[in-house]
Amino acid sequence: MAAWRYLAVFFVFHHIIQIFQTFVVHGTALHGCGSDLDASILAMPFCNISIPIADRTLDLVSRLTLQEKIAQLVNTAPEVTRLGIPRHEWWNEALHGVAYSPGVTFTGPASGATSFPQPILTASSFNMTLWTLVGQARGFLIRVPQAISTEGRAMYNLGQSHLTFWAPNINIFRDPRWGRGQETPGEDPLLTSIYASTFVRAMQEIRYSDEGSRYKAPFGVQMVPSELDTTEERSPAVGRMLKTSVCCKHFTAYDVENWDGIDRYHFNAEVSDQDLEDTYNRPFQSCVQEGQASSMMCSYNRVNGVPTCANYNLLTETARNTWGLNGYITSDCDAVELIYSAVNYAPSAEDAVAEVLMAGLDLNCGSTAANFGQSAVDQGKVNESTIDRALFDLFSVRMRLGEFDGDPENQIYGSLGLDDICSQYHKELAIEAAGQGIVLLKNDNNVLPFLRGHIQKLALTGPNANATSSMLGNYAGVPCEYITPLQGLQTYVDLLLYEPGCWDISCQDGGLIGAAAAIASSADAVVIVAGIDQTQEQETLDRTSLLLPGQQQSLIETVANSSKGPVILVIMSGGAVDISFAKFNPQIHGILWVGYPGQGGGQALADILFGHRNPGGRLPVTWYPESFTQVSMTDMNMKPNTSSGYPGRSYRFYTGETVYSFGDGLSYTNFLSTITSAPSRFLIPSLEQQRCYHNFNSTSKCPKGFQNELTCDTASFEVRVSVSNQGVRRGSETLMLYSVPPKSGIGGEPLKQLIAFQRVSLDAYSSMDVGFEVLPCKHLSSVKYDGTKELVEGTHTLVLGSKDEVSHAVSFVTNFF
Ligand SMILES: *[C@@H]1O[C@H](CO)[C@@H](O)[C@H](O)[C@H]1NC(C)=O
Ligand SMILES: *[C@@H]1O[C@H](CO)[C@@H](O)[C@H](O)[C@H]1NC(C)=O
Ligand SMILES: *[C@@H]1O[C@H](CO)[C@@H](O)[C@H](O)[C@H]1NC(C)=O
Ligand SMILES: *[C@@H]1O[C@H](CO)[C@@H](O)[C@H](O)[C@H]1NC(C)=O
Ligand SMILES: *[C@@H]1O[C@H](CO)[C@@H](O)[C@H](O)[C@H]1NC(C)=O
Ligand SMILES: *[C@@H]1O[C@H](CO)[C@@H](O)[C@H](O)[C@H]1NC(C)=O
Ligand SMILES: *[C@@H]1O[C@H](CO)[C@@H](O)[C@H](O)[C@H]1NC(C)=O
Repeated sequence: MAAWRYLAVFFVFHHIIQIFQTFVVHGTALHGCGSDLDASILAMPFCNISIPIADRTLDLVSRLTLQEKIAQLVNTAPEVTRLGIPRHEWWNEALHGVAYSPGVTFTGPASGATSFPQPILTASSFNMTLWTLVGQARGFLIRVPQAISTEGRAMYNLGQSHLTFWAPNINIFRDPRWGRGQETPGEDPLLTSIYASTFVRAMQEIRYSDEGSRYKAPFGVQMVPSELDTTEERSPAVGRMLKTSVCCKHFTAYDVENWDGIDRYHFNAEVSDQDLEDTYNRPFQSCVQEGQASSMMCSYNRVNGVPTCANYNLLTETARNTWGLNGYITSDCDAVELIYSAVNYAPSAEDAVAEVLMAGLDLNCGSTAANFGQSAVDQGKVNESTIDRALFDLFSVRMRLGEFDGDPENQIYGSLGLDDICSQYHKELAIEAAGQGIVLLKNDNNVLPFLRGHIQKLALTGPNANATSSMLGNYAGVPCEYITPLQGLQTYVDLLLYEPGCWDISCQDGGLIGAAAAIASSADAVVIVAGIDQTQEQETLDRTSLLLPGQQQSLIETVANSSKGPVILVIMSGGAVDISFAKFNPQIHGILWVGYPGQGGGQALADILFGHRNPGGRLPVTWYPESFTQVSMTDMNMKPNTSSGYPGRSYRFYTGETVYSFGDGLSYTNFLSTITSAPSRFLIPSLEQQRCYHNFNSTSKCPKGFQNELTCDTASFEVRVSVSNQGVRRGSETLMLYSVPPKSGIGGEPLKQLIAFQRVSLDAYSSMDVGFEVLPCKHLSSVKYDGTKELVEGTHTLVLGSKDEVSHAVSFVTNFF
């Protein structure tokens, strides 16, 4: 079937979103087992909060007729009046703030929600050091999703949202043209994995210490996280309560919208076992294992011929059995229909429904399962027991959210309301997040920061200089407010001259350039806010060029030529832009990248330009030159291919030229860091039980290295790093520790890869020591061609920093041989 059909479906969904605003969300209760129900219902075990969640869920599912069960398999799940089961809209968005989606409305008491930066910018703060995972302190990324989930709960209490959010997007940002790269934390598997697990934990976990005393006291046994775990065979850890439920998407190898006639609905990603294990699946594993995500979404594309939503191996073997997913799996919207109508993988709608359910899918975003579920059962293609499993996975998550715990005022977070949405604290956090992420890429002669008194008259131009909704990126809602770059800068200068320079982002004609050059020629300094927006990169739209659109380059160069003072170029974009012309132009003195910085982005930018904040963000992706657009976007190989001239992807494999590199980012101060201690030789203990990863045979010798899951996992050593701020200004430095595998490796391993990072703040002329714990098997293993892992013996090199590298060699030896 033609691609247009699915584009139409996509737009219809967006249209539906608007309709939902008006009548669906308000009205009936969103909670079950409330005191308004009959006593006979309230006496049923599923309403009894003293019973383990798994048992309550089994009880609830057992009370449904087959017809009622089938109706529950889709995102808009109807109410079951006779049991007081409320309707549930599963599809809610909260990528960087509660956002437009079928389950969310901004018509109601809450007319907006805090819009944080797009994840690509939040990730570039690199402020999510490993300690956030072990809970010693609350890091930055823990805080943004905590604010989002608090607003989500508050909107739920107001009847304006449901609690199942379909974020984060953790696909690897593999190609700079990808329209949805802005939604992700970038190209690195470690960074993406840590972002994924911290986001999930902060959105899902109930923390009494949070903004704390405001929440009502825990009620009943359910409030003790993890002690609820039941031994119920099918779902051992089903009992953990959830603040909100989030969804790791899109599983897996999904990162093409529409390129050269191939759209995401028809795309078959050909992925090697090595790349799947080493790159594409790593964030999903972390999201499930370390984050304990309660949901995953399978993608539109196929992987090696099999639609991901019909892939038993991925959904059941990998996600559920190997990683231990405890929650539900949803399809991307209409992905079940595509399986028979677009790619002819299943001969009929009934076969598609049966195949996805048997593969492990629980929810169909769309309507195929509701429409064809009964006939699939009637034709013997799927059994009711399989549907029961799906309903168990679905209702257990609703149960964990407290939806069947009675009146909302008795529920946890029941007191959250309007005051918790767009609070002053959240608005400031949105500015703080942008300020921590913004990346300084060029600062000739330290023209930045501007000295307040020295810039009497500032010229501002560029098509994003007064950006509002463009600052939000996609998957946005209604923000609390906008602080545009223009408005942010007005707080610092008495006289601000503004000319947009282009009519819009496409900047088709140069008619406004002259006026922009004119203000530049009379000002003490010039700021040009250029870049792209959703007309260039978004869902269903990949870019074909990495250059600035239309006449933007001409605008920038002309303004730079006419200017008498310093010229600062600000790029607003999700994906990388080839701005080599500006990098090498001596008349452009400073360059900043601000991602899509969210509702407070203009304030954060102005704070940085005037030195109220010292920038410390680092690029989370490689900035490729325009020539990279010759590479086939659908080539999923991460590694270069010397015979075909394919250059490979990401800093881990790509050896070609870059405009800027992964990890690039300057500060207004200078840091010096060194490795002060690390072993040069490390013995991996070899025990009797030690086995090769591959053949699990304790008497045979392993060829070149080994990975012993029994002992290797706990072996570790410490790398100590000293970092000093050598300037007069306080600032933040991100310490990035990479490893380089031995030369005589197993083949196809990365050139180097990030194994740990930590952002630290240092006062002027101060220094500190930071320790990194390295677990050789976890951090230094290589993934082999067949997808298994091996810690290769020999000399591994540890590298600190991406530029001005400091390196240190460690040899791994074992007495196993
Ligand atoms: C709830 O379950 C507990 C434990 O099984 C039981 O003791 C109690 O009587 C039940 N409550 C109601 C209202 O049925
Ligand atoms: C349905 O259940 C029956 C009886 O257990 C079994 O023989 C049959 O193979 C099942 N069908 C499917 C499609 O799983
Ligand atoms: C800048 O944008 C704001 C918000 O849309 C608008 O109110 C204001 O008029 C714009 N300023 C100029 C100078 O265009
Ligand atoms: C800017 O000035 C340089 C040097 O005078 C000139 O070569 C270039 O063409 C000018 N560019 C624009 C866009 O005016
Ligand atoms: C590398 O390129 C050659 C020549 O185009 C091709 O035959 C080969 O299959 C490619 N290797 C991989 C791993 O894609
Ligand atoms: C283990 O390896 C040894 C030597 O290669 C071989 O003789 C033996 O049969 C293997 N045992 C198993 C269980 O595979
Ligand atoms: C990390 O973020 C937190 C919360 O915003 C902030 O207090 C802290 O200073 C940040 N750390 C660094 C090193 O910038």
